[in-house]
Amino acid sequence: MNFDFDRIIDRHGTLATKWDDLDRGHDKAEPIPLWVADMDFPSPPEVTQALLNRAGHPVYGYSMIPVSYYETLVAWYKTQYQTELSRHDFILSRGVVPALGTAVNTWSKAGEGVLILTPIYPPFFEVIRRSGRVAVEAPMKLNDTGRYSFDSADLEKALANAENRGIHVSLMLFCSPHNPGGAVWHRAELESILAFAQKHGIVVAADEIHADFVYTPRSFCSLAAFPDHASRVVVISSANKTFNLGGLHASHFVVRDNALKVQLKRSLEAEWSGAPDIFSFAAAEAAYKHGAEWIFALKAYILRNIEITVKRIAAECPGLKAYKPEGTYLVWANASEHIAKLNLKDDVELVKHLEISGRVKATPGSIFGSEGRGFIRINAACPRSQLEKGLDRMAYFFSNKRDASSLT
Ligand SMILES: Cc1ncc(COP(=O)(O)O)c(C=O)c1O
Repeated sequence: MNFDFDRIIDRHGTLATKWDDLDRGHDKAEPIPLWVADMDFPSPPEVTQALLNRAGHPVYGYSMIPVSYYETLVAWYKTQYQTELSRHDFILSRGVVPALGTAVNTWSKAGEGVLILTPIYPPFFEVIRRSGRVAVEAPMKLNDTGRYSFDSADLEKALANAENRGIHVSLMLFCSPHNPGGAVWHRAELESILAFAQKHGIVVAADEIHADFVYTPRSFCSLAAFPDHASRVVVISSANKTFNLGGLHASHFVVRDNALKVQLKRSLEAEWSGAPDIFSFAAAEAAYKHGAEWIFALKAYILRNIEITVKRIAAECPGLKAYKPEGTYLVWANASEHIAKLNLKDDVELVKHLEISGRVKATPGSIFGSEGRGFIRINAACPRSQLEKGLDRMAYFFSNKRDASSLT
């Protein structure tokens, strides 16, 4: 089947965060939104059909989750990640970020530390802070190819520092594949986390929402694929990134261990957070059931977008160095040289100028923690003509012509 990812779909007037929160200066072209991680592609046609089918029945009363929903999840893990699970290993939730909050409330106590590898997707800091826990940061190292890495010594050091401050760590939140850097963790890296967790009695909650965007030669390995470590592993994921369902809220935990299941169910009951609504699970079920071919084709399209982005930035944006990610649709780019050359305060100021004068909206790196300072994140998941237009404007902006308002 052919999918037309080049087609521009006008999202104006749909209350889309990505499009409705843009600077619209007088007489200037609207900024090209290359920021928040959602895609400007329509979901697979079967998803729209499933939503229409459900909406077509005019009674939207209390509903049950069908067994078939769990079965599609089992099948997805088996076919896409070669991980054998039972339907009883899935516990549903309403969004990955809320599920991270539930994990914090379940496997750590107020005042305790929660370990994270930084830089990291900003809500990781927020769910920890808002639950009255302390973020214990283990900064990662960035190599010349733009890949982040960590080793057990980094984890041990962060833990020892926390303990010296009287902070006990019982939980680690882990992002796999990694947002913002796009690393797809090697099996050996995952094993080092698991060994560390076992040594210190820590539970690992892995956010695997970007699992379906992994590019050859890397392949995705879920933390749910280590049965020997099941007593300390919780995976959190959803169809949201894969099938562009950010406005719906179906997500799931994968928990194989009975004791962890009981603890998690108790927390979810206490939060009254319940299962996803009828539309969310109708959409997610259709996506998992029918979307394999669609995501396969989309990944190839996005990979090409990423390659174009990295190449054009290298050739046309002085002072900006972009790195090709192993996974995700996000391109992480070091702008420190440009920031220094223009004497800007930081990446936040740069991103502001880029939006107002350059007419492109990107995400500032420092919201991912102090290691992100001087970086920007570019979302390559849009029709190619839109991306190229954004890159034209970035080329203009970074070569110091600055005001791109004359560009269309
Ligand atoms: C790593 C990661 N986790 C979670 C989310 C959001 O998940 P949800 O909308 O289901 O809360 C995102 C969105 O960008 C993300 O990148």
